[in-house]
Amino acid sequence: MQRTVTKAVFPVAGLGTRFLPATKSVPKEIMTLVDRPLIQYAIDEARAAGITEFIFVTSRGKSALEDYFDTAPELEASLNDKGKDDLLEVLQSTNMESGAIAYIRQHKALGLGHAVWCARRLIGDEPFAVMLPDDVIAGDTACLKQMVDAYQETGGCMVAAMEVPPEKASAYGILDVESEDGARVKVKAMVEKPTPGEAPSNLAVIGRYILTPDVMANLDRMKSGAGGEIQLTDAIADEIQAGRGVYGYRFRGQRYDCGSKAGFLQATVAFGLARPDLRDEFSEYLEEMMAVRNAAQ
Ligand code: G1P
Repeated sequence: MQRTVTKAVFPVAGLGTRFLPATKSVPKEIMTLVDRPLIQYAIDEARAAGITEFIFVTSRGKSALEDYFDTAPELEASLNDKGKDDLLEVLQSTNMESGAIAYIRQHKALGLGHAVWCARRLIGDEPFAVMLPDDVIAGDTACLKQMVDAYQETGGCMVAAMEVPPEKASAYGILDVESEDGARVKVKAMVEKPTPGEAPSNLAVIGRYILTPDVMANLDRMKSGAGGEIQLTDAIADEIQAGRGVYGYRFRGQRYDCGSKAGFLQATVAFGLARPDLRDEFSEYLEEMMAVRNAAQ
């Protein structure tokens, strides 16, 4: 039996430059998919996996994120007075219990590994999850929950894994697979952002991790990796070198890359179509759009 994973680190210090000008004043994680900010999808997934402590690694200009998780007493009172119970429930479901959420600042943008390392004192000597909110994963069972269950058998470190087209491999951490056992793969090496031709496979790391505190110790070394940044992938790969288990988990679910505009739009369409209150009107509109587009071609 492994120790229960109760803490999750959310690296949210990025500038979100791909979404300028929107991100000039709005943190990327607050941008909405239908009517919920990106970060809410990650929080819901974490809760479904049994996470009770949420650690945000932030930076300057992210105060809207802190406000989002605070209670909104005036708004709650006003909805209450008007008898808008449904909306009140939606609002209250976003409140976080006092003490369940912590914010740590990453003072310099030195890479994902460095961002995670900033949370080391809050993690202590426990296994922990890392969730990258840009990767939104839809499915019947929360991706992190699938991993937490698989981790009960393996221990060690586990990363979410998905096949990507070979020409896209250089945008990801890529796994070199030693053996496969159902959804689980044993990893023998990992490469962050391999140059074309260097990728050992097309099995990519997606932004969900379960890590041991040893990874924090590896990050202490501040080794500079791909792009001159301190890479989380390298600190996990160091565990393989140390003779400890690292696993990939082929999760069930659809992943959207909401760090890219195309991925964000795809997620918007998919989540819009999945909503009972929007489905009919929205799909009718999309069909009309496609018909007009096809007729024009
Ligand atoms: C990060 C990780 C990379 C992983 C990717 C998944 O890269 O460094 O290993 O494959 O997330 O989304 P980023 O997208 O931040 O460049």
